[in-house]
Amino acid sequence: MLYIGIDLGTSAVKLLLMKENGSIQKIVSKEYPICFPKTGWAEQNPEDWYEKTVEGIKELTQGCDKSQIKGISFGGQMHGLVILDERDCVIRPAILWNDGRTKKQTNYLNEEIGRNALVQYTGNIAFAGFTAPKLLWLQHKEPDNFKRIAKLMLPKDYLVYCLCGVHSTDYSDASGTLLLDVEHKCWSEKMLDICKITTKVLPKLYESYEVVGTIKKEVGAELGLGPDVKIIAGAGDNAAGAVGCGAVGENKCNISVGTSGTIFLSAKTFYEDRGNALHSFAHADGNYHLMGCMLSAASCNKWWMEEILHTKDYQAQQRTIQKLGENSVYFLPYLMGERAVHNNPDARGMFIGLGLDTSREEMTQAVLEGVAFGLRDSLEAMKQLGVELKSATLCGGGGKSLLWKKILANVLNLELQTLECEQGPAYGSAILAAVGCKEYESVEQATKTLVKVKESISPETELTEKYNQCYEKFKSIYPAVKELFSELLL
Ligand code: XUL
Repeated sequence: MLYIGIDLGTSAVKLLLMKENGSIQKIVSKEYPICFPKTGWAEQNPEDWYEKTVEGIKELTQGCDKSQIKGISFGGQMHGLVILDERDCVIRPAILWNDGRTKKQTNYLNEEIGRNALVQYTGNIAFAGFTAPKLLWLQHKEPDNFKRIAKLMLPKDYLVYCLCGVHSTDYSDASGTLLLDVEHKCWSEKMLDICKITTKVLPKLYESYEVVGTIKKEVGAELGLGPDVKIIAGAGDNAAGAVGCGAVGENKCNISVGTSGTIFLSAKTFYEDRGNALHSFAHADGNYHLMGCMLSAASCNKWWMEEILHTKDYQAQQRTIQKLGENSVYFLPYLMGERAVHNNPDARGMFIGLGLDTSREEMTQAVLEGVAFGLRDSLEAMKQLGVELKSATLCGGGGKSLLWKKILANVLNLELQTLECEQGPAYGSAILAAVGCKEYESVEQATKTLVKVKESISPETELTEKYNQCYEKFKSIYPAVKELFSELLL
């Protein structure tokens, strides 16, 4: 049997073909554009996602025995507002997870509806990238578009809808809308009233490993796939990534250093973050998770390397960095504003500590360290809730650099494990497809069989100590400059 996992990312869709024993047959990636109509805004066209997914499936399955393909599932960029009208046409470009236009609406929700009420209704407070504040923005700024909404969904749900015609979502992705009562796994009537929508426009809810439908006849014909191929609900990309890395069940941690940076903790019971820094969401294994999300992680390094240093040879820039824990340059990694732990869409990146003797190496090192310190902020918030961790799995592009891995392990004081299959969300989605098709009894059983650790990197006592001191300095920078950010924005 063969299963397809589709990771609908921010810069590209990645498709993976997996055999029932977990071995990867092929991987294909297709890029699409992202549009930044204003500073801090981010949009994409859902039709591009589908077009590239179809192209990708065709390429992925070329030459394989297509009758062996039994199921397709998904991991998708979270929180994006995708809206269709009565005729199933996309009303406007999707407003993405890293879009910061909703400061006013987010403040309204947190201050006027109130954080306590929001936590009571949904388990979470409002963050600018979440779907509910985007709905309020739309209602205010584009009332005609708001009135036309017949179906609302999340990015990967658009693919599901195009492939099988069912308007669905899963609990992990729905958690990031701020419309779901996460603990009780149902839409929150209170939030729907606040956002002036009804359940009529909302997708039907599924567990991530549940079958939503079978592929539409005409779509199957175009792709060369039989009509019995099952479409499985899928998950938000972080939950799918955690599945792909085996972070399921109780107290397992996965760190993803991709466009965004996340620290993800699986849990069998629902956590409430009284500090309001972390997200308390449903997990793709049927349980829950706690997550801290930085909006810019590997994207900080990409920006620094490609836009500023004009190079794609990341390794060459990192090769000569040796003085870990001794850098007097610091970098705030808030290039698109920040979610955890500051919840400030106006925050921006910043170097501090530059001198005439500062080298390019120190600045490169500061970028890598700044992202690690940002993740440490979320880890500290987890510790405040009593979480104890010694190790974590690591996925995403950032995990490929040995130097960055070493910095992360020592800043976080965690043993970091990389896996034989490094394809986090795409692999996790293929696993969800296999579970949906009853190849495995449960997500937990599947990951126990399929996910294997390749190598680990351990923190070193002396370096961890040095980084503890650096982190204290890093922590003092944001509060000192916080008020300036909104003044600096045009
Ligand atoms: C998580 C989040 C990001 C996106 C990236 O809350 O917003 O990690 O899912 O695709």
